[in-house]
Amino acid sequence: MTSVQVKIQSFETARPAPGAATSPAAGGSCTPELAVSPWNFDAGSPAYGPGSSMEDVAPADTPRQGVIPEEYRLADDAELGGRIRRAKEQLGEDLVVLGHFYQRDEVVEHADFVGDSFQLANAALSREDAKYIVFCGVHFMAETADILSRDDQAVVLPNLAAGCSMADMADSSSVEECWEQLMELYADEDDDGRAAVVPVTYMNSSAALKGFVGRNGGIVCTSSNAATVLEWAFERGRRVLFFPDQHLGRNTAKAMGVPLEAMPMWNPRAALGGNDEQTLRDARVILWHGFCSVHKRFTVEQIEGARAQFPEVQVIVHPECPMPVVDAADAAGSTDFIRKAVAAATEPSVFAIGTEVNMVNRLADEYPQHTIFCLDPVVCPCSTMYRIHPGYLAWVLEELVAGRVVNRITVDEGTTAHAKVALQRMLDAKP
Ligand code: 13P
Ligand code: SF4
Repeated sequence: MTSVQVKIQSFETARPAPGAATSPAAGGSCTPELAVSPWNFDAGSPAYGPGSSMEDVAPADTPRQGVIPEEYRLADDAELGGRIRRAKEQLGEDLVVLGHFYQRDEVVEHADFVGDSFQLANAALSREDAKYIVFCGVHFMAETADILSRDDQAVVLPNLAAGCSMADMADSSSVEECWEQLMELYADEDDDGRAAVVPVTYMNSSAALKGFVGRNGGIVCTSSNAATVLEWAFERGRRVLFFPDQHLGRNTAKAMGVPLEAMPMWNPRAALGGNDEQTLRDARVILWHGFCSVHKRFTVEQIEGARAQFPEVQVIVHPECPMPVVDAADAAGSTDFIRKAVAAATEPSVFAIGTEVNMVNRLADEYPQHTIFCLDPVVCPCSTMYRIHPGYLAWVLEELVAGRVVNRITVDEGTTAHAKVALQRMLDAKP
């Protein structure tokens, strides 16, 4: 079996290595601009930038990244790499750098911990001695690290424009409004000792929403513990309000035996979310109308294509993919689940993977004995994860060396207190 080694130093150059098998993953790239010059998108109005979520509308209050000094914009990867390493040496034990699996290789190589969002939340907790936590990921992850860390630890996000378009699909005022409507609707139900509805927010949400669920008897989940968390919620309530990702909610609840007709969708722009009263009374899980534009790209046709080309292929997808894609795959799970599935294969195997392309291509590099490719033939990274260019990492680290904390992410005290309760419930909910 020949391996497919697509090196994604910059996604515009993505191609199979010489001699590699022709792969369904070799279909060009979506929009190359962001790979080279993310700072070109730092000035204007808020936007996610080119990549998978380019078409999504960024909220007007999205944090903006000011343009960083020219020396970082002009430096090449080798120079930036050297500067990052020197700054890390100078900061020593005062610093911990966390990197999500979706980050580009030139950033991941500097991370002290690389993991999924759940593992990185724990990693932030584990380095009590660090004064600075530099989070190479997206905004909600840095907020979570700030909530879980001590007040005197500073969490830094190298590029403030690294948000998450899915997290932005549930804003707190729309969720509060939904909650009020549901409370009013269920007010006449008999008291059986359980809550009428338990709010569950995916980790990919603002700190304000984590605080909201903490205040209202709810809990946070990640893609690695969503079933455990739903069980926790069903023990305490007759129904669940799940936000922002409809797909994770639907895929998880369906696997637990909840019928699709008991999972209405809540459209925040319509009264009662676009549902009639009876549908909401019969509901077991009310799904917010949110989605991830990266995982929305995966289709059943791509799976059929992979199976036609490699009959022995194992298709593994992230549960943020639409339900028909998860149903057609051989397995679905968090980014760490995907990594472990590949690591566990003892014989040369073929894997078609439905998740962010930087992670898939790193797996292909790490396991050259396997044929590993992204289900999506078009190389299209998560545009917000990709905003963390090594130029920003070098900038924030050198500022720390100079005694200046830039791009600090701070969650206010009140929100932190409630969000901590919701996160602790998640950390305590055992499978
Ligand atoms: P994980 O929780 O699997 O790290 O996923 C985070 C994410 O943003 C997926 O799109
Ligand atoms: Fe958000 Fe999707 Fe990017 Fe994950 S991959 S950070 S859910 S936009």
